[in-house]
Amino acid sequence: MPDITPILGSTHLRHGSNTGQPLTRGDGLLKVTGSARYAADNHPAGMLYAVTAVAGIARGRVAFLDIEAAKAHPGVVEVMTSANRPLLAADPDAKTNPFMFRLDLLQSDRVRYANQPIAVVIADSLEAATEGAALLAPRYEAEPARIGLDAAEGFVPNAVRLVSPPNEHVGDVEAGLASASATIDATYETPAQYHNAMEPHAIVASWDGDRLSIDTPSQGIAIAQHRVAELFGLPPENVHIRSPFLGGGFGSKGLLSGPQVLGILAARLVGKPVKLVLRRDQMYGPVGHRSPTRQRLRLGMDREGRLTALDHHVTTATSTFDDFIEPAGAASHTLYASPAIATSHLGVRNDIGTPLFMRAPGEASGSAALESAIDEAAWACGMDPLEFRLRNYAEVEPISGKPFSSKALRECYSEGASSFGWSARPLQPRHMLDEDGFLVGWGVGTATFPAIMFQAEARAVLRGDGTGLVETSAADMGQGAWTALAQLAADSLGLDIARVEFRAGSSDLPDAGIAGGSGHTATAGTAIHNAGGDVISRLAELATGDERSPLFGAGNAGVIARAGRLHRRDDESRSEAYADILARAGLAEIEGNGTSATDQAAREALAMHAHGAVFAEVKVDPDLGQVRVTRLVGAFAAGRVVNPRLVRSQYYGGMIWGVSFALHEHAITDKRSGRVMNADLAEYHIPVNADVPSLKALLIEERDPHVNPLGIKGVGEIGITGTVGAIANAVWHATGIRVRRFPIAIEDLGALHAA
Ligand code: MOS
Repeated sequence: MPDITPILGSTHLRHGSNTGQPLTRGDGLLKVTGSARYAADNHPAGMLYAVTAVAGIARGRVAFLDIEAAKAHPGVVEVMTSANRPLLAADPDAKTNPFMFRLDLLQSDRVRYANQPIAVVIADSLEAATEGAALLAPRYEAEPARIGLDAAEGFVPNAVRLVSPPNEHVGDVEAGLASASATIDATYETPAQYHNAMEPHAIVASWDGDRLSIDTPSQGIAIAQHRVAELFGLPPENVHIRSPFLGGGFGSKGLLSGPQVLGILAARLVGKPVKLVLRRDQMYGPVGHRSPTRQRLRLGMDREGRLTALDHHVTTATSTFDDFIEPAGAASHTLYASPAIATSHLGVRNDIGTPLFMRAPGEASGSAALESAIDEAAWACGMDPLEFRLRNYAEVEPISGKPFSSKALRECYSEGASSFGWSARPLQPRHMLDEDGFLVGWGVGTATFPAIMFQAEARAVLRGDGTGLVETSAADMGQGAWTALAQLAADSLGLDIARVEFRAGSSDLPDAGIAGGSGHTATAGTAIHNAGGDVISRLAELATGDERSPLFGAGNAGVIARAGRLHRRDDESRSEAYADILARAGLAEIEGNGTSATDQAAREALAMHAHGAVFAEVKVDPDLGQVRVTRLVGAFAAGRVVNPRLVRSQYYGGMIWGVSFALHEHAITDKRSGRVMNADLAEYHIPVNADVPSLKALLIEERDPHVNPLGIKGVGEIGITGTVGAIANAVWHATGIRVRRFPIAIEDLGALHAA
């Protein structure tokens, strides 16, 4: 087998190096002109409209639905309730693996959370279905809702992050605290947040006998396909899912949700294609959310400002019927070196829909608290908060004892600080004013996110005309994944991107795994890289074994694939075009396959994370307490940069979400009714353009040969993690007031007036 090296450098060759170029999104024009066809835009002939009726209580049972009134509506075709919904082959309350979540599919009259679907009305128009749902006028036998972290005793969950132990430790935290010369003991709170993707969860489902065709947005098509197949007792190949575009996902489209399955059931019931789209307010319950946390941080420091102990205890809410536990303690496993670290999690059962992963699950909430506590520790030691971090950041993952696969964090701190101008920061809080009299504060936060990979497969084809085709069922949530993957696909075949067709977003393609955990580009990209490499090595075998080829006998030296030609590595002037090699061999095409297999030995020996540092400037109105973020500088090291434009855009998105977490987002649940009171984008606040400061994202170069052959880590989630703490710390620096509850609100800064 020849030694094959497709060219994957980051130099800007016009040909042969697509990776590293700042290409715009391949689907950008379709999207900005409104011609991208999202799942709900597909209208098969004869399609009916389904609307869910949802519970107005959080706990109890549905005592009555006026089905007759709904059915009397002239446009209503059918009303689906627990009495008539088609049978399923699997119990939606079964949980046969930790990645499977229980679904509400009208299996009984029980209500377990507000906005739980209790009926589906199917009609010949959206308006008729909506009116029909209103005519159901449900009556309930309600029981008191249990809402909030004090609503029940906490329990120790079986697992966090689905499969990790809930409690972990190294060393003796109590001894470390006892021997410390200064300590911090502080409790931080983060609220419930909802994913609020622009595109709601939607499905268009068509049955043809025992074959099912679905248009629905999915971050993990193959997982969804298998879940549907299991629920309906079908072979997976009978279920075809198309997910061409996603208008955001953020985790809530990672796994199939109940309402999507209700759309399939409705189509089965009426024997016609059915479309079901959730209303914005109906997304506050059955499709997951980020659950609230209360986090107690205890830190001990010695006289030199070194941590002697770090204890991170998390209390978080989950539902009464399933077990997603926000893994907020995870941030404390990786960021700081301390001889003693303990993390623990308690769950509290609430009458809420089951929480789910939401962008940077665990690290977002956990680092908000940890980075605030680290700042408090620095102040207790009389140290600059950046200097304190430089003294304490971990070079070896403290709990596992594994070294990090790179040490780029230090460079993130220094590059970020110098770009921001951090050295001019006064140590004391409330020491900077701008020309308008606003209080100015500067804060820093460390960013971290694991470099995860999943299983994936890809298929690559080199055609006789020298063009390529690469296929994998990858999902593009808007972040540009398809563009980045197409760049990798082109390089895997040694072709210009214009000569490679990239197909994705359908369940009949090889499984690209889940677009989650910031691992999609690394995962699907590795499968693509290997599939293209497989093609090239087959091609090279044809050429190097054939006397008529200028590459004959190059076996030992190897060949290089570039710009549609194979070159001898030891004499690049000797080359042959792909098309000529195929033609001489009489082949119309060559196919190759690849998987995302990781180097398990490396993963067992090394800790793999992306790192960063975020610097924030805020201005606070001394009279009103209003906070504005005016500058954010983030420096991130996340391995190979596949496309700097898209990577920067991911960092910006994460940092803006950090602004949102720190100052805006807060789902408010009425404790009496158990209903989210601001279930709409008018009152569930997210930043608008006017809230977004000047942003700078520095791409710190990092070559990591261990994470995967391409050296790619993830960029989707890390941007939130440093930013929330940086903003909270900047608010403290501006005002001298430490707010330990997110989002930081005007009323939290009321003490400004007294000062
Ligand atoms: Mo993400 S929360 O892994 O979509």
